[in-house]
Amino acid sequence: MEIQKLKGQSAIITGADSGIGKGVALALAKAGAKVSVNFVHNHEHADELVTEIKKHGGEAIAIKADVSREHDVLAMFAQHLSVYGSLDIMVNNAGLQKDAKLVDMTLDQWQTVIDVNLTGQFLCSREAAKIFIQQGVRQGVSAAAGKIICMSSVHEIIPWAGHVNYAASKGGIEMLMKSLAQELAPFKIRVNGIGPGAIQTPINKEAWETSEALNKLLTLIPYKRIGQPVDVGNLAAWLVSDEADYITGTTIFIDGGMTLYPGFSDNG
Ligand code: BGC
Repeated sequence: MEIQKLKGQSAIITGADSGIGKGVALALAKAGAKVSVNFVHNHEHADELVTEIKKHGGEAIAIKADVSREHDVLAMFAQHLSVYGSLDIMVNNAGLQKDAKLVDMTLDQWQTVIDVNLTGQFLCSREAAKIFIQQGVRQGVSAAAGKIICMSSVHEIIPWAGHVNYAASKGGIEMLMKSLAQELAPFKIRVNGIGPGAIQTPINKEAWETSEALNKLLTLIPYKRIGQPVDVGNLAAWLVSDEADYITGTTIFIDGGMTLYPGFSDNG
């Protein structure tokens, strides 16, 4: 019998209409959580995901919001609460890349990535924390008053030429996550990061869409396969469950060994 670890809980997952966010939404719904599928542009994909979750007996709604806009974020939380009445899990997943060499990078490319990837996580964490603190631990629901996941990347620690905006946002997420974890632990709120490596999603299509590109990518992955959204979804569902109740302030890398510096396996 499959035990639904997150039964009676609800979650907001930002950027859940595709890629890793979709994988996380599916996994959390499968574990019994009611989920708000946040999207900013692709209403159709978000609705399809809601339908898929419902088809499998889960509960879900789609909520449009740009996480970099405070007004949108406040409205998203209000909508979630008006439907589900409480919140137990916040997954800060929405993120994007605007790649360019440093000398060509526009301020707009820099700012958009920082606004969505980093400021968006700040805004959503702040609103989630307010609810968790007010709610406190809900007996019989979860040992924690709330759980926050900050979706990071292997580029939290691996420098990435040609992507300084993205790498800086992920480096920032590490300290955002750790400082939040320190501040919120006394309220029984757990905050952790997930650092995916190369996961097969639209964001890195160029790196896997041809066999030549994929083979080049695999030289960076000792475990020799590209990751799938379900890999990250399964980790997220466990990390927000009570089985992981003593974990806070940590980034878990899920990368097939990308952070093992494979270039050193026969070198150095
Ligand atoms: C990036 C992907 C990249 C992966 C490994 C992720 O954070 O979004 O584009 O393939 O890191 O480099």
